Amino acid sequence: MKEKIAQLLAQVSDLKCKTAKEVEEARVRLLGKKGEITRLFEEFREYPSERKKEFGRALNELKQAAAAKIEELKSSIGSETESAGPKEDLSMPGTPFELGSRHPVSIVRQEVVDLFRKFGYDVAEGPEIEDDYHVFGALNFPLNHPARDMQDTFFVSTGHPNPLLLRTHTSSVQVRVMESMKLPIRVICPGRVFRNEAISARAHCIFHQVEGLYIDEHVTFADLKQAILLFAREMFGPDAAIRMRPSFFPFTEPSSEVDVNCNICKGKGCNVCKGTGWLEILGCGMVDPNVLEASGIDSKKYSGFAFGMGLERIAMLKWQVNDLRHYFENDLRFLSEFETSIEV
Ligand code: PHE
Repeated sequence: MKEKIAQLLAQVSDLKCKTAKEVEEARVRLLGKKGEITRLFEEFREYPSERKKEFGRALNELKQAAAAKIEELKSSIGSETESAGPKEDLSMPGTPFELGSRHPVSIVRQEVVDLFRKFGYDVAEGPEIEDDYHVFGALNFPLNHPARDMQDTFFVSTGHPNPLLLRTHTSSVQVRVMESMKLPIRVICPGRVFRNEAISARAHCIFHQVEGLYIDEHVTFADLKQAILLFAREMFGPDAAIRMRPSFFPFTEPSSEVDVNCNICKGKGCNVCKGTGWLEILGCGMVDPNVLEASGIDSKKYSGFAFGMGLERIAMLKWQVNDLRHYFENDLRFLSEFETSIEV
């Protein structure tokens, strides 16, 4: 017994472990239920009491030494793993978080709205889910007009004489304004519109518009032309020129489509303007007397003009983006090109 104790004591003091697993194995080998020291205690219990005196103390010392060694190894390995990783440097600056940026369409929308506000226009908004009357009926669309066809319009409910649908233009807001606001009227109506179109580089089933309406006594086509020219110069620079082409809309007479000179090739002709030197930016015209009368406005006394533009189209021209789909895909690489931070 004496020799065994001495041998184990030497083993304990020489004990070296590299990992926590090795420490645990050593503990089990020495102090576990079937461990060597535990077994010595079992042997010791069988001894007559005079011999117990001889070894009792040494055996207890061995047990304590083994337990202390195991603890020491455990804590040294523990602190080594802790110190293996980099120590936190509390003086380091914090992790910066990225500010969001405004969507390019929102930037253009704000620009257009600010411009017309400067010209004295109010901003009006209306529902995206509208009834047929406000989108078509009140705007002089004959009952069998193809714009009411399922191919152009997303209907929410059908079979009703005035079915609900997703508005195809924000002219519906202009109708609501004519019904409720006092004359003279000068409003712009920004908003999201929906059309049942196949998605391509030039068309999408969701897009954004700003439409404008001006009704007063003696409003003429010359006023319309001047308003559009002013807008084009503010939006695209002092050299911007406009061209008006005759067109058709059920709610305006006469109607026109407006082109602005291509600011990429300066009118020489490039692939963006398809060699023409002009880019279409909006539709407009003098409000049809039928439309004024439908909203209870005396068409003998009042006249007005209206116009409507697609914001994605203006944004495409402004930043020379040639695929409309970029504006809807929310690719951060694209979105972060426009504005680095939100003004607060
Ligand atoms: N509402 C028309 C459209 O969505 C645009 C427009 C508005 C044309 C006002 C003329 C006058 O295309």
